[in-house]
Amino acid sequence: MNLAGKKILLGVSGGIAVYKACELLRLLQKKGAEVRVCMTEAATEFVAPLTFASLSKCPVYQKNGAVEARPFQHIDFPHWADLYLVVPATANVIGKFACGIADDPVSLCFMSCTCLRVVAPAMNVAMYNSPAVKRNLEILRGFENTVVLESPAGELACGEVGQGRLMEPAEIVKFLEGEGFPLAAAACASSATPSPRGVSPKTPVPPAIPVAADVPPTQDDTLPGHGKKVLLTAGRTEEAIDPVRYISNRSSGKTAVALASVFYANGFEVEVVAGPMEAAFPGGVAVSRVQSAREMHDAVMSRLSNVDAVVHCAAVADYRPAHAASEKIKDSRSQLTIELVPNPNILRDCVAARASQSAAGAARQVIVGFALETDHFKEHASEKLTKSGADALLLNAPVASDSGFGHDCVRYALVRRDGTVPEMSMGSKVDLAQEIVDFVLEKLG
Ligand SMILES: Cc1cc2nc3c(=O)[nH]c(=O)nc-3n(C[C@H](O)[C@H](O)[C@H](O)COP(=O)(O)O)c2cc1C
Repeated sequence: MNLAGKKILLGVSGGIAVYKACELLRLLQKKGAEVRVCMTEAATEFVAPLTFASLSKCPVYQKNGAVEARPFQHIDFPHWADLYLVVPATANVIGKFACGIADDPVSLCFMSCTCLRVVAPAMNVAMYNSPAVKRNLEILRGFENTVVLESPAGELACGEVGQGRLMEPAEIVKFLEGEGFPLAAAACASSATPSPRGVSPKTPVPPAIPVAADVPPTQDDTLPGHGKKVLLTAGRTEEAIDPVRYISNRSSGKTAVALASVFYANGFEVEVVAGPMEAAFPGGVAVSRVQSAREMHDAVMSRLSNVDAVVHCAAVADYRPAHAASEKIKDSRSQLTIELVPNPNILRDCVAARASQSAAGAARQVIVGFALETDHFKEHASEKLTKSGADALLLNAPVASDSGFGHDCVRYALVRRDGTVPEMSMGSKVDLAQEIVDFVLEKLG
């Protein structure tokens, strides 16, 4: 979605992350969006409404029932908006949204708005994992025109570590601007637009934000991926040199987000093992975070049983420093040599694990790898496919200035074990994802 000129209503509820909503407001304005704000009473105890009113240059809608600038603000604001962002969303307002309670400005606007609604939860890990919050988030994911953002794991304001952090404001902006979002917004804009769900796997499918759905795609038994589970790797890895430096690469994770979205839209249960990356996953996708190649290897190997397909999209470092220094390496102005040792080959280890699973009678998993090449594309892809034992390789080449890392388009070809190497063509990362999903569905029969 191009945010320039968009009218965005920002709903702020009362958690410690309220100050981050100020940052988000500023970022949205920098992108050219017009922002208005509504707040719960609890939110006003964390940051004064005057701050939001000053930043947005508009009176804040607060305290349900009080006459502000106009008496019908609970209708005016939502009807004015192209997009309603609830950031941060407390456990309390999430519960209200799910149950249809509308006794404060934020929940009242949620109920009365007809535009796309994006909810960013933020709370303590125990609250986030409580059965009530889990259930309420699942209910929201099933609502029409509603997107629940992933809450990243990490250190929380209360000092505990776990899931429940607010997605960073810059990440939220990236998500809104991402390739999945215009499709979701378009699907919302017109009730005549068909739902992304229920389409044949050959039809280009918008990414998996369940915008026009009354149940999550995973519960829709008319979808081709219903009852099937896919494991994806995503992002890049970081290999420590010392406590502050690492070896990595330029992967943004956008392809993995497109893949997760299209698999999810086709009814698959999607689990992702993700290294560091900029792009954000839509709600409904289970994400486990790792940092190094070895962590990614262990996380993938421990999740292999019970998955029908594995797609290795992550840009995993082939090598890591043999020894990571425990203290920051000092600048001695002399030449420094870092010895590198190979990382485990996750793709090949998955193929080996599949062989032993198959020998034990398990159904054969579909395994797809990725090969990013800069030269001798066909030769390198064929060789890698043969050596790895995967069913297919997605050959891709970030050669043009407008495609590849961080961009929405890429040059690619799906190289199948049972076929010749096709010519690469330019397409969006959603097209690429759709081709892989079609292949996996075909292989799973
Ligand atoms: C210091 C402090 C921090 C809090 N942080 C959060 C939080 O991050 N997430 C949350 O769901 N509730 C948090 N709470 C609890 C909410 O403020 C409380 O549930 C309140 O009723 C929410 O009201 P609202 O949803 O109407 O804004 C916090 C409470 C306090 C005192």
